[in-house]
Amino acid sequence: MKLWSGRFAKDTDALVDQLNESISFDQRLYREDIQGSLAHARMLGDCGIISLEDVAAITEGLNGILRDIEAGEVEFTTDNEDIHMNIEALLTARIGDAGKRLHTARSRNDQVALDFRMYVRGEIPVVVGQLLELEKVLCRQARQYQSAVMPGYTHLQRAQPISFAQHLMAYAQMFARDVTRLEDCAKRLNVCPLGSGALAGTTYPINRAQTAADLGFDGPMSNSLDGVSDRDYALELLSDLSILMMHLSRFAEEIILWCSWEFKFIELDDAYATGSSIMPQKKNPDVAELVRGKTGRVYGDLMSLLTVMKGLPLAYNKDMQEDKEPVFDALDTVEMCIPVFAAMLDTMTVRTENMRQAAGRGFINATDCADYLTKKGMPFRDAYTVTGRLVADCAAKGKTLEELTLEELREVSDLFAGDVYDALNLENCMALRNSYGGPARESVERQIALIEEFTAARRDV
Ligand code: ARG
Repeated sequence: MKLWSGRFAKDTDALVDQLNESISFDQRLYREDIQGSLAHARMLGDCGIISLEDVAAITEGLNGILRDIEAGEVEFTTDNEDIHMNIEALLTARIGDAGKRLHTARSRNDQVALDFRMYVRGEIPVVVGQLLELEKVLCRQARQYQSAVMPGYTHLQRAQPISFAQHLMAYAQMFARDVTRLEDCAKRLNVCPLGSGALAGTTYPINRAQTAADLGFDGPMSNSLDGVSDRDYALELLSDLSILMMHLSRFAEEIILWCSWEFKFIELDDAYATGSSIMPQKKNPDVAELVRGKTGRVYGDLMSLLTVMKGLPLAYNKDMQEDKEPVFDALDTVEMCIPVFAAMLDTMTVRTENMRQAAGRGFINATDCADYLTKKGMPFRDAYTVTGRLVADCAAKGKTLEELTLEELREVSDLFAGDVYDALNLENCMALRNSYGGPARESVERQIALIEEFTAARRDV
């Protein structure tokens, strides 16, 4: 018999039960559900709405259920459709009438709104912790490769010299923003929907400030309709996770390129690469490819929930039961991807000699050549044209700029002198890019220090 069977003359159809149940996935919320019920019962007792004996029985009963669930001794049933009714039914079976008083002044609508919000709140530090570990790996690798010159790209064309460290630290910045985005989400979500009732509050003299404080919220949500129907926090989380995955997918794409024979900038550790069933020579970057691929899945989770919520009238609608699976899936995906990605980066071998070789071809010091002439007095636009002519000349001769003789250089401009070779030296080109945020050693050192401070500040919390 259903908990709500009072006004019904017959049982629901079996297919309806199948469609309606959510216990198969919302059982993940058992801890939050019990925590919320404990706070609710305490408040009911303190406000004189139920007796203190009932509170004691409920508390003991719920704690017992929590223990048994964690010990794997509880079998949930679809007869009780969701986690809330499963736990309430278990409680009543164990302690009798006191269990039936727990749901006084509460609805499953504010109950599920509370449980889900607390679940999301609890997962944010997990993702943030993983991101901080990833930052640590990036800083460690960056420290090691500050003088490793590589070509920086635009349009995937060799552009200007940077260091491998500078490239890695660009990702460190993205992941730091991901952390602060998640922290913002956690701040905004920390208001308590419990006490919103089904939608219109309650006639009982409840104390919403008490339950809110008891459950670690900053305060109660101030509108009961909003309280039961707000899922913004879940959407914010999914947006944050989507952006995070977008960052990982860009990084993944570069890892895939760098592992190719065309680049060979890095080699992955055997533990983080896979083979082919037919081609014996293959070592594939499946980890990076899967992370790139799973990004689409997390975007899909965001789109599902946005679409579920679109056009829903106030207040609670059963559509909203569809809020949980996308969030669980996105969290599972992200929480699987970050640590394996970090470990892959931590164990990769960096082929600095190949980076340096790639940097030597592609005229990535052409800007520096133009800058050299500009500093000698030629207007930049003219220096740009002259250098362009030199590049075309070199391309035809199969030479690099620094392989041109001083005579060849002076054919296009008599401003060229012996010191031009220093100006064209790639290590110098990189070292001289010491503007704030640039790839020069002291600048990258500052970037690493800032990220280390950022992680250290959070590790202490
Ligand atoms: N399992 C439901 C959900 O996830 C709980 C709320 C149900 N409320 C209701 N009035 N049917 O949304």
